[in-house]
Amino acid sequence: MPARPAPPPAPADAGPPPARGAIDRARLVQRVAAAGCPGPLRVVARTDSTQARARLAAAAGVPEGWTLVAEVQTRGRGRSGRGWWAPPRSAVLASMLWRPGLAPDRLRGLSLAAGVAVADALQAQGVADVSLRWPNDCLAGGRKLAGVLIEVVPAGPPPAPPAVVVGIGCNHAVAEWEWPEELAGLATSCVDHGAGPDRTALAGALLGGLWRGYRRWLAEGASWVADAWWRLDRSRGTEVTAEGRDGPVRGVVLGLAPGGGLRLGTARGERVVEAGEVRRVRPMGTPPPPGSGG
Ligand code: BTN
Repeated sequence: MPARPAPPPAPADAGPPPARGAIDRARLVQRVAAAGCPGPLRVVARTDSTQARARLAAAAGVPEGWTLVAEVQTRGRGRSGRGWWAPPRSAVLASMLWRPGLAPDRLRGLSLAAGVAVADALQAQGVADVSLRWPNDCLAGGRKLAGVLIEVVPAGPPPAPPAVVVGIGCNHAVAEWEWPEELAGLATSCVDHGAGPDRTALAGALLGGLWRGYRRWLAEGASWVADAWWRLDRSRGTEVTAEGRDGPVRGVVLGLAPGGGLRLGTARGERVVEAGEVRRVRPMGTPPPPGSGG
C-alpha cells in the first residue's frame, strides 16, 4: 500500500464543540431593563447583521434603547470593513441604538466609554486578565475577546442630530480548533478566561453595561473615561502601528488626547490619531515580524 499523508484532524478528533444554549429573552430583557435601558429588545435566531438592521431601524425612527440580539449573523460586520465571525450561539452579537442629540464632533470619546463599559462588564462576569486596545477592543490574556463598532447614522433630515448604533460582538464559547486560520492565536472566548456558561447573563451584563456607560458619559461628560480607560490599557510605552484616517502611523503610545485620540511619539514628533485602530502592539525593542511592514 502506498503511504498516504495523514488526513488533517477532523473536528470531532479535537473534542466536541462547546455546549451552546439559546439566549433566554425574558431574562435578558429583565437584566437590561434593570440597568435602565428602556428597550425594546428583540432576540432573533438569525439575521444578516444586527448593525445593518439597527441602521434601518434608526432611519425608521425607533426610540433610543432599541436593541437587536442575534444568535447568528450571516454577514456580521467588524471595523475597517472587516467581517465578524461567530458560530451560532457561540457569542453575544447585538446592536443598540442611542440618540444622544449631539453633533458628530461632540461624540468623540463615546467610543472609549463603550470600551470601558464592555471591559467592566466582562470583569464582573469573571473574565480574568481583561485589557483594552485603543480604541475599544477588549482582550483577555492579550487575545481579542470582544469588539465594539460605533457608527454615527442619520436620524432624519438635517439638521436633526445623528443617532449612534453601537454593535458588540463578544466571543463566549468557541473551541480553539474552531477558529479560522486568520484568527487562530489572536482571538479567544470568555469561557476560557473564567466566565461561566450562561450566555444570557453575559449578554445582560454587556448590554446593561453599555447603556449605563452611555448614560454616564451623557450626564458627566468624558472626564471619568480617560482614567478608567488607562487602568485597562497595556499599550503605554509600547510601539504600535495605528491605522488612522490618513494611513498607518507608527509610534510609541504616550497617552490619550483630550478628545479620546491616541497620542503617539513618532520619528517626526508627537501625532494624535483621532480615528482608526491599533493594528499591532509589541514591546519596545522587539523587531517587527517578517512581512509586517511595520
Ligand atoms: C470590531 O471590528 O472589533 C467590531 C466588531 C463588532 C461586531 C458586532 S457583532 C454585532 C454587531 N453586528 C455587526 O454586524 N457587527 C457588530
